[in-house]
Amino acid sequence: MMEYHQQYDQYLARVRQALERACEQFLPETSEVCRAARYSLMGGGKRVRAVLVLGVSEMLGGSPEAAEAFAAAVEMLHCYSLIHDDLPCMDDDDLRRGRPSCHKAFGEATALLAGDALLTEAFEAVAGAPASPEVCVQAARALSAGAGSRGMVYGQELDLKYEALQPDETMLRLIHKNKTGALINAAVQMGACTARDSADQRCALEQFAFGLGLVFQIVDDVLDVTGDAAQLGKPVGSDAQNEKTTFATLYGVENALELARRVNRESCDALEKAFGERSAFLVQMAGELLARRS
Ligand code: IPE
Ligand code: IPE
Ligand code: MG
Ligand code: MG
Ligand code: MG
Repeated sequence: MMEYHQQYDQYLARVRQALERACEQFLPETSEVCRAARYSLMGGGKRVRAVLVLGVSEMLGGSPEAAEAFAAAVEMLHCYSLIHDDLPCMDDDDLRRGRPSCHKAFGEATALLAGDALLTEAFEAVAGAPASPEVCVQAARALSAGAGSRGMVYGQELDLKYEALQPDETMLRLIHKNKTGALINAAVQMGACTARDSADQRCALEQFAFGLGLVFQIVDDVLDVTGDAAQLGKPVGSDAQNEKTTFATLYGVENALELARRVNRESCDALEKAFGERSAFLVQMAGELLARRS
């Protein structure tokens, strides 16, 4: 089997090409809003969700071309969520992916519209993917379910509402499941859409995706306390400044990480049980995301 990091780099290269195609197609440089969208979209990031689409698709023997289009779409959608998340009316953060946040570089109105453009064009990218209409509709449904009023947007709503209310663990899990898990699950399901798979596989994939999403956000919360802004490419202490309750404030850094390790073991076990050796890349990816410093 190809070494993990080599595989990740190959996926990244495919994601970059797919995003470059999306820029050409959807974000004309004559528009300031599109220049702002390109600034945020092409300015780095781990590309976790896009790589998940490619990794799941490959694990299931899906179409690589469809997976690339879906990977670009989910990354565009994620990028919109980051632009809006940084706005003064939300987390009010000035740094993103090691550069001034979109609204710092282009102004608030342009950043707002750049997010709107990325959100909208993500769905055109799905609609125009080289796949059957049925597959494109399935992917669009997965993306909107993960991103919208019953997914990421709802999570962001709760995240802001509970700044003042000090959520308990049950509520915090609900917030994280929606604001982060739902889009990660969308990526996984969009990868699965590119292949013919059975319903019980979808169940294991969903379990893995929401486990990964919870771990990912716990680690994000921990890094907001213990991380390094230069390495993270975003400010540390943002959650404390906004008086957010996180797993780090609720249980302390060590216990939060212990919980993350436990959830990670469970979700990887579910994946290995369903897919055996074919799950190796995704299992290793989950482990790397647990140990990440950026
Ligand atoms: C940050 O996402 C927002 C969260 C849901 C925690 P990432 O950590 O994936 O950000 P990038 O895309 O690598 O910049
Ligand atoms: C991310 O949560 C939620 C999104 C849907 C963008 P955070 O607000 O903790 O993400 P960062 O830390 O700003 O990347
Ligand atoms: Mg936020
Ligand atoms: Mg934030
Ligand atoms: Mg955070």
